[in-house]
Amino acid sequence: MRKLIAGNWKMNGAQAWTVKPAGFDRIYAAQDRNHIDILICPPFPFIRELFTSAGGRNIFVGGQNCHANENGAHTGEVSAEMLADCGASFVIVGHSERRAAGETDTEVQNKAKAANRAGIVPIICVGETLDQREAGHAESVVENQISGSVPDGLTEYVIAYEPVWAIGTGKVASVDDIKGMHAHIRKICGATVRILYGGSVKPANAAEILATPNVDGALIGGASLDMADLAAIAKAAG
Ligand code: 13P
Repeated sequence: MRKLIAGNWKMNGAQAWTVKPAGFDRIYAAQDRNHIDILICPPFPFIRELFTSAGGRNIFVGGQNCHANENGAHTGEVSAEMLADCGASFVIVGHSERRAAGETDTEVQNKAKAANRAGIVPIICVGETLDQREAGHAESVVENQISGSVPDGLTEYVIAYEPVWAIGTGKVASVDDIKGMHAHIRKICGATVRILYGGSVKPANAAEILATPNVDGALIGGASLDMADLAAIAKAAG
C-alpha cells in the first residue's frame, strides 16, 4: 500500500510558512518520492496559498476539521466544500484534541460524510486514553470509535490511530502495541484503508514505526513543523 506521510500543523504557522514546501522539496525532491504521498494540513487561512506553493511539488494539502453542512448560519465554521475549493484533498476529522473538547462519534461521522460529499478524503482519528489502555480497553474503545465515526458504505477514507497519551508527550506506543492495534483496525476496516500511526513520531523512531505491519503512514504533529524532520520521516517510509 502507498504510504501517506501527513503533517498536522495544528494551530501553528504563518503566511510566511507557505515557502515550506519548497524547503521540503530541496531536502527530498519530488521525483524521488513518487512512491509515497506527502500531505500538510495547515490552519485554514493558509490552505489556499500552501496549495499554490505545494501543488507543483507533489505535496497534498488538507484541512484539520470541517463542518458537516455545506453552508449556512454556522459562524466561525468551514465546510468541506470550502476546503476543496481552496485545494484541499484531505481533511482530518475527530482529532483527539477536538474529541476532548466534546466532539462526538456522530459529529465525526457527519464530518466524514461531508468530506466525501465534497470529494475529499477524511482522515478519521481514533485512539484511547491512558486510563482506557491501562484498564485493558484500548481495542474496544477504538473499535467503538470506528463503528461510530466511519459512515456506512464509505470506501475511501484513512484511519489515524493516535493513542491520546502519546500525542505531544514524547511517549510513543511500543511497536508491539502499534502492531496489535493496527492489526485490529485492519480486521475492522479491510485491506484497502490506509491506517496511519500518530503520536510523537520523530525522525529517530519513524523507520521502526513505519516498518510495522499494517502501518501505512504517519500523522505527525510537532515534527511536521520542521521540513528537515518531516522529510527525514518521509524518507524513513522507504
Ligand atoms: P505529535 O506528533 O506532536 O505527538 O502530535 C501527533 C498528532 O496529534 C498529530 O495529529
